Amino acid sequence: DDTIVLSDLAKRMGIKANEMIQKLIGLGVMVTVNQTIDFDTAVLVASEFDYELERASFEEESILSETTEKDDPAKLTERSPVVTIMGHVDHGKTSLLDVIRKTRITEIEAGGITQHIGAYNVSTDNGQITFLDTPGHEAFTSMRARGAKVTDLVVLVVAADDGVMPQTVEAINHSKAAGVPIIVAVNKIDKANADTDRVVRELSEQGLVPEDWGGDTIFVKVSAKQNQGIDNLLEMILLQSEVLELKANADKLAKGYVVESKLDSGRGSVATVLVQEGTLHAGNSVVCGIHHGKIRAMLNDRGVQVESAGPSIPVEVIGLSGVPNAGDELIAVSDDKSAKQVSVHRVQKQRAKELAKTSRMSLEKLFEKM
Ligand code: GTP
Ligand code: MG
Repeated sequence: DDTIVLSDLAKRMGIKANEMIQKLIGLGVMVTVNQTIDFDTAVLVASEFDYELERASFEEESILSETTEKDDPAKLTERSPVVTIMGHVDHGKTSLLDVIRKTRITEIEAGGITQHIGAYNVSTDNGQITFLDTPGHEAFTSMRARGAKVTDLVVLVVAADDGVMPQTVEAINHSKAAGVPIIVAVNKIDKANADTDRVVRELSEQGLVPEDWGGDTIFVKVSAKQNQGIDNLLEMILLQSEVLELKANADKLAKGYVVESKLDSGRGSVATVLVQEGTLHAGNSVVCGIHHGKIRAMLNDRGVQVESAGPSIPVEVIGLSGVPNAGDELIAVSDDKSAKQVSVHRVQKQRAKELAKTSRMSLEKLFEKM
């Protein structure tokens, strides 16, 4: 069953599908863009373009193509927005999520500092929203960058008594780099020394200008402590996401993104995965980074076991062969054998890369000594 869709092969080689079809006709093979060709034919046509096709990578592509191929627009349905909360340390990101979720995470956190990305799905009167909570401490830049990369919207939390601070600016830069729209939540407006005008002024200098100042950034005043302005914030998030027309195909093998991972002494490898496309089911065979596995159990953001998770839904996944890296992609495939095959191939590729690196290093060391 070594086959690949012609358009996939052409795309991977950076060649126009039409040119490839012409070459194949020359070789006596009649095929259209959406038809598949077998491995031997692929090798043949690739060599016509001076490409050498490796069997292993060919297999990987064809195994994953069922999940990763482009969706028929007719199969896309609405999905809820993924919103990342960013901002300077202590400006009230987790507190804000606590009032939205009616939880008390802030009180449990060691030293009151968030040190990981939390992923939560919340039902509001007007629809569901998935939130990613990021740490504001300066040490966690990569987590913020990751949060900005997988999100549809950023809510930038700025404390009204503190104003724009270094990680506020950093969050703006991550959002801009990822091309993600920002909604500003001016928090702690209950405080005696709150100065909203100052926040607006300082953010305007960063290019975030509110509508009544002639710009187009949405500003919402909130107090997480006094539960003020929260409904307004949720409404603005949903309004803004409507504009984005967020859609996904829920009816296929799942593809997702590892937000966080850890080795748990009891449960083994645990990965928090944000499903982006398709639906992930317990029992699915998956590839994740260099690892693979059969999903033994899935837990939702409240620790409740679930059987499936569709687009925009975060779940904890148990059953992977190892601990993936945050940022790795998780891809469901049709069977265990395929998952293992891809994983073995990726491990080999990684080893080869490491070997190449060490031999180059030792060569450099050699020259150093001369
Ligand atoms: P990191 O995740 O460590 O960056 O912090 P954070 O932005 O999540 O802040 P967190 O929610 O932990 O809140 C920091 C402190 O500010 C806590 O003591 C909260 O009780 C307090 N706080 C949060 N929101 C408000 C608010 O609206 N008003 C007042 N007065 N205090 C608040
Ligand atoms: Mg926090």
